[in-house]
Amino acid sequence: MSTRLAQQGSGLGRDDGDVVLQVTDVKKYFPVKKGIVFQRTVGHVQAVDGVSLELRRGETLGVVGESGCGKSTLGRLLMGLERPTSGSIKLNGREIADLKGPELRKMRRNIQIVLQDPYSSLDPRMTVGDIVGEPYDVHPDALGDRDRRTTVQELLDVVGLDPSHVNRYPHQFSGGQRQRIGIARALALKPEIIVCDEPVSALDVSVQAQVVNLFEQLQQEFGLSYVFIAHDLSVVRHISDRVLVMYLGKGVEYGTEDQIYEHPTHPYTQALLSAVSVPDPRLRNHRDHIVLEGDVPSPVDPPSGCRFRTRCWKAEDICATDEPMLVIRDAAAHPSACHFATERDVVHALRRDVRTGGSHVVEHDGDGAASR
Ligand SMILES: Nc1ncnc2c1ncn2[C@@H]1O[C@H](COP(=O)(O)OP(=O)(O)OP(=O)(O)O)[C@@H](O)[C@H]1O
Ligand code: SF4
Ligand SMILES: [Mg+2]
Repeated sequence: MSTRLAQQGSGLGRDDGDVVLQVTDVKKYFPVKKGIVFQRTVGHVQAVDGVSLELRRGETLGVVGESGCGKSTLGRLLMGLERPTSGSIKLNGREIADLKGPELRKMRRNIQIVLQDPYSSLDPRMTVGDIVGEPYDVHPDALGDRDRRTTVQELLDVVGLDPSHVNRYPHQFSGGQRQRIGIARALALKPEIIVCDEPVSALDVSVQAQVVNLFEQLQQEFGLSYVFIAHDLSVVRHISDRVLVMYLGKGVEYGTEDQIYEHPTHPYTQALLSAVSVPDPRLRNHRDHIVLEGDVPSPVDPPSGCRFRTRCWKAEDICATDEPMLVIRDAAAHPSACHFATERDVVHALRRDVRTGGSHVVEHDGDGAASR
């Protein structure tokens, strides 16, 4: 695990630590067009709708939520690949939308991405050496006077691949090895930040563990900061210092790994936690199981008030009229976007260690939380 820079986790807007990325109220709306000849805008997909977060040096921020909640769009915004509809994204104190010329190039070097599907993100006709060294075509200055082939082989070694395989093609590697190729490529320009968009979701559990370990090892070695996007809460737990839970374009709960997993206060987080896969059948009876009813509403026409209200078992009238802000409330020590945020110990009897692929039971504290 990376150094835990954020143990206190009082939430948004803290000014301690070395903030590399500061995101404030960022929105990304995609227009929905209709008509064959004269395309009219008939609405907007509210893919990201007012997200705020900060990433500190050497820290991992996990971003979790169901498919379509805006995780990848947020990742692309952070990389400057999408322009925000509104809001601010600052890299080392500089607004990235304002960067031009050499500063923009430097920013692009500084934030790299590792994607989910290693095979589709690698060009099958290029050798591994060409793939890992390609960033030097765009940024030759990053190579300095070092030999390109030797540097690429060093990168392969750093990610645990055999440097002598530099002339092989992606199809000659396993899924986990291909993901290592993607990581080597992301490291080529010595970035400060890596956005990891579902980097282990397509891998077997045992391989996931190895790749997560590699991410942690590289973080310690190079002082990297990660935004780690995933569906799987157990993967995010073991790599994250802090976690942002997203629902329909909004951040709904934000806290340290301990706050989110041990003291979740938002009903959506509690439901997600209750659905974490349990490999050992003996352990499955040791947790609350919250079944979410209904589908995720359309991000083109989200529910009024709280976006989660159409699936929330705690919803009351106020939830339809007043949007709950992501703030610290009386009953919680970290920000939660719920009018009735209260702690619920969902995984009191369950621990899954992704690094070993195993599980073990810990003390049941018998808080008597109702299960559905
Ligand atoms: N370029 C685009 N144009 C229009 N809509 C888009 C565009 N990109 C994303 N969207 C929409 O924005 C919403 C959020 O998409 P996004 O890919 O960010 O979600 P996600 O959380 O990464 O989902 P997944 O877990 O499936 O990868 C979705 O409704 C998606 O259809
Ligand atoms: S604000 Fe209301 S609908 Fe939203 S999560 Fe809280 S109780 Fe549920
Ligand atoms: Mg995505």
